[in-house]
Amino acid sequence: MARLAHWLRLAVLLGVTAMFAFPSQEAAAGVNLPKLERGKGDACVEDTETMRRHHMNMLKHQRDKTMRQGIRTTKHSLKGCVECHAGSHTGSVASAREDFCMACHVYAGVKLDCWNCHATRPADKAPTRVGATPRGETSPILASTLNGASQ
Ligand code: HEC
Ligand code: HEC
Ligand code: HEC
Repeated sequence: MARLAHWLRLAVLLGVTAMFAFPSQEAAAGVNLPKLERGKGDACVEDTETMRRHHMNMLKHQRDKTMRQGIRTTKHSLKGCVECHAGSHTGSVASAREDFCMACHVYAGVKLDCWNCHATRPADKAPTRVGATPRGETSPILASTLNGASQ
């Protein structure tokens, strides 16, 4: 039931965020965007243009595979994004407006619920299943508070 609600909400969000796609080619090229900190390493998991346009689909595909079929690949993992894109000031991808994932999303009017469960910082614990919080682990809600993530 919870998962159904989750996917329904995602489907609705998808429809809404489609309307917020970059208004112009220049914006897509980053001209009007807040300055994004460069990721770690030499390159992203795909070329920059592909990442700008299709990262949302990659992440969903990845999640589908992991959660529904139990297949684990790491190339497009969310954990990977966080490891390479955590900001040098906050150490997080989404706790301040200038953090990597948030900078664009604030601009584009996109809100993510991912950080309710997923860590915004590298080396945090794997997401905790809702309703099953093992002893010693922070509940997803508390974790998001600790991360200071609101989107
Ligand atoms: C209700 C909690 C919850 C929410 C909200 C949530 N996830 Fe997840 N996610 C999980 C759990 C649990 C797993 C399985 C973790 C594992 O296998 O390590 C997972 C796994 C994943 C994976 C595969 C593992 C990885 O690190 O790549 C991806 C990708 C992913 N989620 C993306 C997302 C994205 C993108 C969002 C937001 C649009 C999101 N999730 C929102 C709970 C959640
Ligand atoms: C191995 C480190 C690494 C991983 C893992 C990684 N990135 Fe990147 N990412 C980079 C680097 C480096 C760049 C800059 C590439 C360039 O411009 O030459 C980049 C660029 C990007 C850009 C374009 C930024 C811009 O300037 O417009 C987006 C969007 C992006 N990454 C999203 C993601 C997402 C989403 C994930 C997870 C699916 C991810 N990245 C995983 C290192 C990484
Ligand atoms: C270059 C700007 C940019 C960066 C950087 C960026 N995003 Fe996005 N993201 C967008 C835009 C624009 C959309 C909405 C696109 C659409 O709906 O067509 C979006 C949508 C998404 C969605 C789908 C939202 C939904 O509810 O359907 C996910 C998931 C997502 N981004 C994850 C991430 C993560 C994780 C990072 C950081 C690793 C990140 N993004 C960094 C621009 C960016």
